[in-house]
Amino acid sequence: MNSEELVEVVLPGKVEPEGLRIRRGEVPAPGPGQVLIRMEATGVSFAEQQMRRGRYYDQPAFPFVPGYDLVGTVAATGEGVDPGLAGTRVAALVKVGGWASHVLVAAADVVPVPEGIGAAQAETLVVNGITAWQMLHRKARVRAGQAILVHGANGGVGSVLVQLAQAAGVRVIGTAAARHHDALRAQGVEPVDYRAGDVPARVRALAPGGVDAVFDHVGGHGIVDSWHLLAPGGTLVSYGSASTRDDEGSKQWPVLKLLGRVWLWNALPNGRRAYFYNAWAGHALARGRFRARLRADLTQVFAAFQRGDITARIAAQLPLTRVAEALRLAESGTVAGKVVLTP
Ligand SMILES: NC(=O)c1ccc[n+]([C@@H]2O[C@H](COP(=O)([O-])OP(=O)(O)OC[C@H]3O[C@@H](n4cnc5c(N)ncnc54)[C@H](OP(=O)(O)O)[C@@H]3O)[C@@H](O)[C@H]2O)c1
Repeated sequence: MNSEELVEVVLPGKVEPEGLRIRRGEVPAPGPGQVLIRMEATGVSFAEQQMRRGRYYDQPAFPFVPGYDLVGTVAATGEGVDPGLAGTRVAALVKVGGWASHVLVAAADVVPVPEGIGAAQAETLVVNGITAWQMLHRKARVRAGQAILVHGANGGVGSVLVQLAQAAGVRVIGTAAARHHDALRAQGVEPVDYRAGDVPARVRALAPGGVDAVFDHVGGHGIVDSWHLLAPGGTLVSYGSASTRDDEGSKQWPVLKLLGRVWLWNALPNGRRAYFYNAWAGHALARGRFRARLRADLTQVFAAFQRGDITARIAAQLPLTRVAEALRLAESGTVAGKVVLTP
């Protein structure tokens, strides 16, 4: 492959993973304020599982290039951008467009990746790291000695959340399919099988007084159980609707229902708090603050990695052209961590 040819993955409509298309073209030039990133690693997020079913609540119209985040080196800089940025390794959160060999991003949106962190390692920490860090430290504000419940503790976000919480001195109970339990126990997580029924009773057996925070990406009716598992003073962080991925009908309704519930719980005088976390909050209306927060928090996540507080969980690494396999693998429920795509 000519390294200066653009290769990108197109999601043409609601398709099975094999329906994704590879498109080739010319590498674009950065406009004013932009940088051109030569992708070294991008990844499969739950968002793409939803988008290929037309189920992500604000996805663009088909066809488009998916890819929530990426890591790469700055290949060229546009007008008004410090030319010294060229050659540096950066990370970016883009929501869509990351599954490409070359990606244009506003220079203000890239975050430097410190020396010594590999591209695939860094990739596991971009959207997953920001999401985990902000939910843990900006929403739940956990403290040492507390106990939390992490749903999907083996997943991309879940596995970073678990490690960041443990680094903060927090006890972690984690739901996951039984096949992941040995690995979770080895990490010091107390596992609960979410497929074996009565999750609340199993969690209560481990934490009779409730937990100080619950991180729930599952949504649906289970969110009520998550709320009732909180100890006095506890915080529910709802951040997804994985349970409705395969539903028909409105893609916004499950999220709106969660927002309504969370708002109501927060408004009632019950000594507990509830939030819906959205990594994009503030992106449209307070761009400067959004960028500053993203840069500060991702820098903290990279520092946690360098200290050894967290490890990069690479579930598998596949070239971009084998994206169908990568997506199938991510959806298989057999992997732990992040499926990474490389050029
Ligand atoms: N709000 C935000 O800004 C934001 C940002 C990033 C991610 N998210 C959300 O975070 C979640 C995780 O994303 P990810 O990229 O880390 O995904 P991932 O790596 O695919 O992990 C998904 C995890 O969820 C579990 N799971 C899947 N379906 C489930 C169900 N119906 N009930 C219970 N558990 C289920 C999986 O368990 P198995 O392995 O056993 O299947 C796995 O542990 C997604 O829901 C995503 O939408 C939200």
